[in-house]
Amino acid sequence: MQIHPTIAGLRAVLAKAGRIAFVPTMGNLHEGHIALMHQAQGHGDTVVSSLFVNRLQFGPKEDFDTYPRTFEADCEKMAAVGVAHLFAPDEREMYPMPQAYHVQPDPAQADILEGEFRPGFFRGVATVVMKLLSIVQPQAALFGKKDYQQLMIIRNMVREFALPIEIVPGETVRATDGLALSSRNGYLSETERAEAPRLYRALDHIRKDIQAGEPDLARLEQGAMAELRASGWIPQYVAVRKQLDLQLPAAHDSGLVVLGAALLGSTRLIDNLEV
Ligand code: PAF
Repeated sequence: MQIHPTIAGLRAVLAKAGRIAFVPTMGNLHEGHIALMHQAQGHGDTVVSSLFVNRLQFGPKEDFDTYPRTFEADCEKMAAVGVAHLFAPDEREMYPMPQAYHVQPDPAQADILEGEFRPGFFRGVATVVMKLLSIVQPQAALFGKKDYQQLMIIRNMVREFALPIEIVPGETVRATDGLALSSRNGYLSETERAEAPRLYRALDHIRKDIQAGEPDLARLEQGAMAELRASGWIPQYVAVRKQLDLQLPAAHDSGLVVLGAALLGSTRLIDNLEV
């Protein structure tokens, strides 16, 4: 695997790379990232990844400074799964001057759910993803469903800006007890790690109740929030939404997704399940 710290260096090699499948990351790779990189091989001749911890998507009280940086281990994993080129810029390369132009997603999509609790998060994500797509110019780019709202916003951004890029979703990878893999799971203590799958189980319970015909979605959402609270969590939202745009479903709508975010100790976990 070749590692490229500069945009110019990357562009020089990618000119002859054929169809490019791209997997952007912030590093600290787990099996979810590896599955995306593996999947990427079916979408291009050359798999390109990026590793850049994007300051723009962290709030002032969030974990930008302490976000796990595991460059060597990440490179080994990428090389083993067949990534041909890694774009790994430092901040001066990516943001040589303060980023004065931003991609501002539709507030109806970006200020709800995650956006309500992480103001500015999707503006930061959309801006860096637009910049990465412009640097790499892939034909396909892969994003995990674990970050469901991120996937929707990127898909809509690519469509609205008419970028000739196929956005490919990757299934969430879970531990055997159901916990969705995430770079932030490493923050959990042993006791918290044992408790963490409760979020998945709460969402799964809702999914099964909807499949069994339960029409009162608000009751299901409130029940899951109460259960998490009773087990020591601080739930931020549990919400049943339409998969397409994450807006509130009307009665008898199908194609739903149940999403949740909650704090366990000081670790914020998110998860979702399609219904
Ligand atoms: O999902 C992530 O890891 C990040 O939000 C992304 C897409 C790499 C942008 O920084």
